[in-house]
Order: sequence, then C-alpha cells, then structure tokens
Amino acid sequence: MIEKLPELPENATAEQILRAGVEAAGGPVSLACSFSVEDITIIDLAKEAGIDIGVFALDTGRLNEETYEAAEAVRERYGIAIDWYFPEREAVEKLEREKGLFSFRESLDNRHECCRIRKVEPLNRALDPLAGWITGLRREQSVTRTDLTPLEIDAPHGGIVKINPLIAWTEAEVWAYAEKRRIPVNRLHRQGYPSIGCAPCTRAIREGEHPRAGRWWWEDPENKECGLHRR
Ligand code: ADX
Ligand code: SF4
Repeated sequence: MIEKLPELPENATAEQILRAGVEAAGGPVSLACSFSVEDITIIDLAKEAGIDIGVFALDTGRLNEETYEAAEAVRERYGIAIDWYFPEREAVEKLEREKGLFSFRESLDNRHECCRIRKVEPLNRALDPLAGWITGLRREQSVTRTDLTPLEIDAPHGGIVKINPLIAWTEAEVWAYAEKRRIPVNRLHRQGYPSIGCAPCTRAIREGEHPRAGRWWWEDPENKECGLHRR
C-alpha cells in the first residue's frame, strides 16, 4: 500500500498529523473509537478542521453501559453514523459454551483468545476497506507505547497508514481540550477510569496508580495490550 510517509514538522500539531496522514493515505480513513476522551477529542478536532474521516467502533459484547451512552451522545452531537463491528457469532458461541463467560481471568492465553475473537478479528474486518486508520494512542499511556510515532506504516494490517494525532499529548492537555470544547465525555472517566475497555477487564484506579493499572489488573504491565496495536 503506502511506501513512504510524509515528513512532519518537529512538534507537529494534532491537526497537522491528522491532515498529513489522511492525505498520505489517499483513500478512506477511519478513526478507531473506544469512546474515550482521547477518541472523542479526535472526532471534534477533525470536525473543526474540516477533515473528512469515518468512525468505527468494535462492540466486543462486553462494553460498559456508559460507553454505549457516550457513543449515542457522539452520534447526536456530531451527526455521524458510527460503523459498529461485532465479533463472529460462531466464535463467541463456541468460546462461551466451552470455556464460560470469564475464561480471560484464567490465563494469559485465554485472555488473548477472547481479545482475538472480540477485538482483533473484527478490527481486521474494519480495516479491510481502509487506506488508513486513526487511533487515540498517547506515548504517556504505557511502557508498551513509549516509542510510538505520529504516522506509521501499519505492516501487520497490509501497509495502510496508522495515524496517532494525540501521540505527544498529556492527559492534562486532553482534558483541557475536552473542557474547552465541551465535548461529550464517557461518564466512566469521572468514576476513576482513565482508560476505557471491556467492563469485566477494566476497574477504576486508586489515587497514585498508573492510568492503565485498571486494565487487566491481574496481569503484568508489559502484557497489557489486546492485540489491536501489534507492531
Ligand atoms: S487497548 O489496546 O488497550 O484496548 P486502548 O483502550 O488503550 O487500547 O485504546 C487505544 C486506542 O485503540 C483507542 O484510542 C482507539 O483508537 C482504539 N480502540 C480501543 N478499543 C477500541 C474499540 N472497542 N473500538 C474501536 N477502537 C478501539
Ligand atoms: Fe475479552 Fe476482556 Fe479482551 Fe474484552 S478486554 S475482548 S472481555 S479479554
């Protein structure tokens, strides 16, 4: 697909990254939206800048009610259709019949299996028609994300462009933007959830804990990825 990424100015703004990425992709580009404050910030930024992007979301079947509410608030505020993707029915039925509803707590392999069925396979289908995708990833979020770049060639997904406009933003900067623009915010954030994921695999964090401490809290930090962001 794409062979060379465009040069970006040092300290490029989120808007510059977004625009350069969408132009470089040269085809349809969509935001992968988990309805976190980061992702909704990107929708707002793109609207304000007049940059045409789609929005898709992976409904794992295990999302929090608050996340579905945030999705509806976004749909109304921005007048956009969200392209929802659901996991393959047969795969979920087999998993639940054979291993029960909480197999992901039993081992890392089981956890990866559930993420593969509920997130990774639907993501592959979502990315199939796209020339590029956008994420709300920030370097600050995790030890697994410190070496991210604003634009990447996503080799595991067929060489399409991966655009990470908020890569250098701090949590405080995201919230300052969200408050200034009064964007709809997932209620979970106000209940101690800096990071939004599936309900059974995410808990609120206590003061002083790492922002992703509530994700798969029973696992080691270096394992805390679900396979959406393979590199
Ligand atoms: S994860 O890999 O640990 O689940 P995280 O929750 O930090 O990722 O989110 C990082 C980015 O992945 C989000 O900003 C969003 O772009 C994408 N993402 C995560 N979950 C979903 C989802 N359910 N649907 C669509 N995109 C998602
Ligand atoms: Fe399954 Fe938990 Fe992964 Fe969601 S985060 S897909 S419930 S293992």
